[in-house]
Amino acid sequence: MKSIAVFASGSGSNFQAIQEGIERGDIDATIKVVVTDKPGAYVTERAAAKNIPVLALSPKAYDSKEAYEQAILAELRKNEVEFLVLAGYMRLIGATLLEAYPNHIINIHPSLLPSFPGKDAIGQALAHGVKITGVTVHYVDAGMDTGRIIMQRAVDVVEGNREETEAAIHAIEHQLYPEVLKYLFNSSENRVR
Ligand code: GRF
Repeated sequence: MKSIAVFASGSGSNFQAIQEGIERGDIDATIKVVVTDKPGAYVTERAAAKNIPVLALSPKAYDSKEAYEQAILAELRKNEVEFLVLAGYMRLIGATLLEAYPNHIINIHPSLLPSFPGKDAIGQALAHGVKITGVTVHYVDAGMDTGRIIMQRAVDVVEGNREETEAAIHAIEHQLYPEVLKYLFNSSENRVR
């Protein structure tokens, strides 16, 4: 069983989908802690409802990104966390966490990377008029959504309709992230140690 931490800055619907995948017995993992850089984010309520501890640290309270990540790292080590799962964490991971967790950090992004990295990927896709976009789960490196791709799924754009396009993308995210974690962690198909 893998011990994981989920990092989130917002609503936490992907956190919830992962936790439900664990509760169903689909994913051989346990979420030891939810890490957020936004103490008021809705993900903290979702975590509380699932009795999962939250580490809410405001980066502004630290002198440097390194000091902020060292504080997170201390808590991850205390919880013997083996794998970091980013789910709407709106911050670049720095050298401290990358070096502590080489090839053990993954992220979900709402586009078919390498198209539309960074902020508002769905808005970027709509602005370009693409007809197909999608969801990517990838390893995290020092760049912005540039790490090696693990899995992708396509989603049709609902032309001129951001709300419906967004809903379709989120629905696919909530299927794909649990599937990827199952593929990575479960013993019969274990891809990471
Ligand atoms: C998702 O669309 C994810 O792909 C992006 O941020 C959003 C997070 O949504 N990186 P939620 O907080 O999991 O509901």
